[in-house]
Parts: sequence; structure tokens; C-alpha cells
Amino acid sequence: MFPAVRMRRLRSLKLIRETWLSTDDLILPLFIDENIEGENKKPIDSMPGQYRFSIESAVKEVLEAYSMGIKSVLLFGIPARKDETGSEAFNTEGVIQRAVRRIKKEADDVVVITDLCLCEYTTHGHCGLVENGQVVNDPTLEVLGKIAVSHAEAGADIVAPSGMMDGMVKAIREKLDEEGFTDTAIMAYSAKYNSALYGPFREAADSGYKFGDRSSYQMDFSNAREALREVELDIKEGADIVMVKPAIFYLDIISEVRARFDVPLAAYNVSGEYLMITAASEKGYLNREEVLMEGLTAIKRAGADLIITYFAKDVAEVLRQR
Ligand code: PBG
Ligand code: ZN
Repeated sequence: MFPAVRMRRLRSLKLIRETWLSTDDLILPLFIDENIEGENKKPIDSMPGQYRFSIESAVKEVLEAYSMGIKSVLLFGIPARKDETGSEAFNTEGVIQRAVRRIKKEADDVVVITDLCLCEYTTHGHCGLVENGQVVNDPTLEVLGKIAVSHAEAGADIVAPSGMMDGMVKAIREKLDEEGFTDTAIMAYSAKYNSALYGPFREAADSGYKFGDRSSYQMDFSNAREALREVELDIKEGADIVMVKPAIFYLDIISEVRARFDVPLAAYNVSGEYLMITAASEKGYLNREEVLMEGLTAIKRAGADLIITYFAKDVAEVLRQR
């Protein structure tokens, strides 16, 4: 008798739901601006609902997120001084180093992840050192190692190199181990595409570049197999967690990386993805909560274990109300 199988029978049962979002899987990115004093924070125009924090207000934000169940944060620093080589990035009294110490002092069990890159610290805004108008790979590696050690010294649990330099994971692992930080983990931005969706972030982090573009080091969005090679290399170099970035336009990449490799996989739900949903819902065209939950669930369904998202607190709030 047709139809013996009726898919409708179980459809409304959460019992058979395959994918669950949990605050345990979410990482909240935070921008910490050395130019902001005291307890102040400044709204970011390009990302409504997001702020640049002073160190003190960042500590408050981390504690608030923690109380909502968000136990991991990814820190971006905006230094008061930039130079050609980004030397503020490894200053032991730099904004990130001080922020990490403060956060770890207030809440030791928050997982503190630090973005490890030069673009917020250099006057030219590129993710590596620049020589004769070119971003140069190998000389950058040494600087990245220094920054990693300064973050680990401050107490970072995980460093997250985001500059897509070849060999960066190996260089950082070696340097960390040499200095005794064998327990500091590396979350590598392994398959990071050269994406127009980073636009809002560059205002948020003041990391826009002054010339050229990032296509000499970030991936062409037309390529998928290349992402698998990037991930494979990072795992060989010692990455503890690999990442695909952006997330929602790149679900095929997430799912393929998940199928091929057995390391924890993070996906970065980037600023442009945040902005599209936020702007459309502000206009009343989309339902913010429904769309963000659908988008983030899709990222998990594709195979990501961890999601870095500006929506982390929104998710916590939605889950609480259920
Ligand atoms: C820079 C960096 C970028 C992001 C994270 N780290 C931007 C870029 O590569 O230009 C993007 C994050 C986002 O858009 O939310 N190393
Ligand atoms: Zn960068």
C-alpha cells in the first residue's frame, strides 16, 4: 500500500533532529581598541550591534557573554600606534597582551583565543611585511612567531594566525615550543578566501589595506581543491584546529574538509554575513532570529564543530527562550 513510508509522521519531533546549536560551540569575536579609555565602548557603524571595547569594557563583555554560556572569545586588537612592520603586535604591554592578562585574571576558565596577524598593526594594512610593494612571506614568519610567544606569555589558550602566510603554522609551533609553550594551541585560518564579505570588519578592526589587495595570500573563491591542500598542509605543520572562512557561502568547503580530515573544524561566520542579516532585518525584510539560527545551523550541519560568530550572544538568547 502506498505510501507505507510517510515522512510526515516524525516531522515535528525534536527527537529526530540531527543538528543542534549549542553555546558550547560558539566563539565570540571582540574588538579591543587601545584608544578607548576606561569603561567606554564605541559602536561600529559597519556592524550595527557590535562595538569596539576598551580593555576594561571588554572584560565586562567577556563576563557577560560567559554568564550567557559563551565560554570562548576571539580577540582582535587595535593598537594606538601603527608602523611599517607592525611592531606593536608583539609588545608585551600591547593592547592584546594586556587584555588577555586582564581577562584571564577575572575569568580563568574563559577560553581566550587571539587573532594573530599584522594587518591591524601595520600602516599599510597588509597581513605581512611589505618590501618593494609586495607582501613578503618568509620574513613575516619570524614576526608571527614573536607575536605568538607574546600572546602565549600573556595567557592566551589558543593563537589563531589569520594572515595566510605559507609555513606560518610550522613557524609558530616551533617558536612556541622553543619558548616552552607546548600547551598553547593553534587554530589556523587554513582555507581563508579573498572575500568581499570582510568589508565591514576592516572598518571594525581598522585593518583596511592602503594599496593592492589580499589576492597574493588569500584564496580565490573559485577554488575548492586548493582549500583541501591548505588544510592538509596546516595539519602537517601542527595545527590543532583548522578553519574555513567565510562560512555560509562556503558550506561545500566545510563539508568536504569535514569528510576528509579528522581534526576539529571551525568556521568563521564573517562580518559581511552578520551585516547582511542585520541590515535586512533592520529594514524589516527578514526575521533576524529565524535567519541567524537557520544560517548557523546550516554551518553546523555542513560539518563545522565550532562557529566563530558575532551572533553568539543572540544564539544564547534564542536558546534560553526555547
Ligand atoms: C585579517 C582578518 C580579516 C578577518 C579576520 N581577520 C579580514 C581580512 O582578511 O581582510 C575578517 C573577519 C570578518 O570579516 O568578520 N587578518
Ligand atoms: Zn591580517
